[in-house]
Amino acid sequence: MTLLWDNDPTSGDRYAFALGGDISPVENLAAAARSLQESADPLMVIGPDIDMQSACDLSELARVERPELGVILLRRRVDVAVLGQALRAGIREVLTADDLTGLAEGVRRSLELSAKVAGHVTEGGTAEGRIVTVFSAKGGVGKTTFSTNLGAYLASQGSKVLLMDLDLAFGDVAISLQLLPQNSMSDLIAMGGHVDAQGLSSIVTKHESGLDVAAAPSEPSDADRIPGALVGEALRVARRHYDYVVVDTPPAFTEHVLAAFDVSDLLILIATLDIPAVKNLRLSLDTLDLLGNPRESRVVVLNRSDAKVGLRSEDVVAAIRQDIAVMVPSSPAVPASINRGVPIVLDEPKHPVSGALRELADRFVKVQANSGAPRGTEQAQPAKRERWSLARGGKR
Ligand SMILES: Nc1ncnc2c1ncn2[C@@H]1O[C@H](COP(=O)(O)OP(=O)(O)O)[C@@H](O)[C@H]1O
Ligand SMILES: [Mg+2]
Repeated sequence: MTLLWDNDPTSGDRYAFALGGDISPVENLAAAARSLQESADPLMVIGPDIDMQSACDLSELARVERPELGVILLRRRVDVAVLGQALRAGIREVLTADDLTGLAEGVRRSLELSAKVAGHVTEGGTAEGRIVTVFSAKGGVGKTTFSTNLGAYLASQGSKVLLMDLDLAFGDVAISLQLLPQNSMSDLIAMGGHVDAQGLSSIVTKHESGLDVAAAPSEPSDADRIPGALVGEALRVARRHYDYVVVDTPPAFTEHVLAAFDVSDLLILIATLDIPAVKNLRLSLDTLDLLGNPRESRVVVLNRSDAKVGLRSEDVVAAIRQDIAVMVPSSPAVPASINRGVPIVLDEPKHPVSGALRELADRFVKVQANSGAPRGTEQAQPAKRERWSLARGGKR
């Protein structure tokens, strides 16, 4: 829907075609300011009879409150003075009021830009972090290895990162990083419905890499007391305060895992070269398809890709009917690093396993500055507003 601020009650009809028909009229500056704050409409067109100062005031307000909203200004005459003033106020386009073709073009450009900006900005106007969930329906394939290494690598690069352990009964993120958590995910229970940044920070334990860890409860039975909705709530809060939220998972579609999928921008699915793991991955991919999870928001990583076990990576690709994004070799250095409690990417950066984990982070997890688009190519291009919802059984 486009907000149209004009004095002329017939202008809605005049511009309907150029604006795509769906118009919500506003009458004055106060109403315009209110609707831009209250609505999520991506475009405001200001008619030719609205005075220049009010139009600029509104645009300046929009720039702060709703950076993704585009403002297009129509004038009877466009001159350098008008353009200069509009530019300073952050108005995206100034067009002559009778140039309806130009207006249609300007609307299209502005909506495109808004979509890009919205992909990077929350309702509150702050940049949103990316939620990346590492999953496999089979245990022992490398989920915890990947999530701890990804988290520690991203944190060591200066990003603000939270690693949440959703293997709530048997999570071993804390022990893998040699942390002794004072608090854990069970402390969220008391905050249900009102989790905020402070509450979240009270449950995290800091790792020396700079990574924040939300550890699994020390009591396995606490897992049942943590509702899936609480996990979703905590993740939504977390993404407003972290650049990345990496989620480690148990080997099952638990309600906690489903809640994480629901808000994730990227799923990293782990395959290994054994028939049960490949079968489980195929079933997981089918389940994700059924749930409406977009294929563009998943990558499959083959762990221990060089194991000589009679099954080849081509066999895996054929069985799961999806490309493998990154191959991580097998090495005794991996369990050795876990036993030392130091992620291998930090401890042995030149190791081939570290190289592969960095490739995964750099190509698929990281986002390019200013674009909101992930660095990944054909595989992973999740758009923020394209998050899918289990609750609604499809894309939001
Ligand atoms: N690329 C690898 N090479 C050798 N061992 C690995 C590799 N990746 C994981 N491992 C080992 O496999 C075991 C299971 O890994 P883990 O990350 O705990 O799996 P999950 O979290 O999926 O259960 C660990 O002992 C880990 O050290
Ligand atoms: Mg694990």
